[in-house]
Amino acid sequence: FPVVVLISGSGSNLQALIDQSLQGNLDIEIKAVISNKASAYGLERAQKAGIPTHALSHKDFESREAFDTELAGLIDHYQPKLVVLAGFMRILTETFTRRYEGRMLNIHPSLLPKFKGLDTHQRAIDANEAEHGVSVHFVTAELDAGSVVLQASTLIEAGDTADKLAQKVHALEHIIYPLSVKWFSCGRLELKDGLAYLDGKPL
Ligand code: GRF
Repeated sequence: FPVVVLISGSGSNLQALIDQSLQGNLDIEIKAVISNKASAYGLERAQKAGIPTHALSHKDFESREAFDTELAGLIDHYQPKLVVLAGFMRILTETFTRRYEGRMLNIHPSLLPKFKGLDTHQRAIDANEAEHGVSVHFVTAELDAGSVVLQASTLIEAGDTADKLAQKVHALEHIIYPLSVKWFSCGRLELKDGLAYLDGKPL
């Protein structure tokens, strides 16, 4: 099942996907990893796993549209059935999100619809939330607003800093992202009229 993964940073979620497929738990082939940052550590992880990599800097393009057009061309070259955003820190154009509607997933470190955008761990602490977590969702044009596929939560404990919370959430990410990708690759997960369905039932 051909997949392309987009990253901007460390790529620990990418690593979780690589590990799960090496362990035989996930039947996907990561055709390529693309980063908008050449220095992203995730590119090294991919190379170690023998996966083709590309660095495509948004700074080399004069507009968001131009960058997204080039990015789409690169992705389509690999003919993926699913595009996985794994810490890809760029806002995508509507043309781009429409192109991959129903076949692009993102992972966002909050219990959506709470805390869209950046700095989610600190914001959850500041808001005195009892719990915090992570969401996998289909990508639609509006930022972090697509239909949620799967969430995992953890209690916010006294003394939790944003860093501590980020670590706890990351551990959850590495469980729920491979599982969501597995559901999609098995044909169990789909987006219909903007809503996510698992085994034909709305999520
Ligand atoms: C994760 O916290 C993810 O939820 C967010 O970006 C981070 C990526 O981490 N979208 P990594 O690069 O996979 O380690």
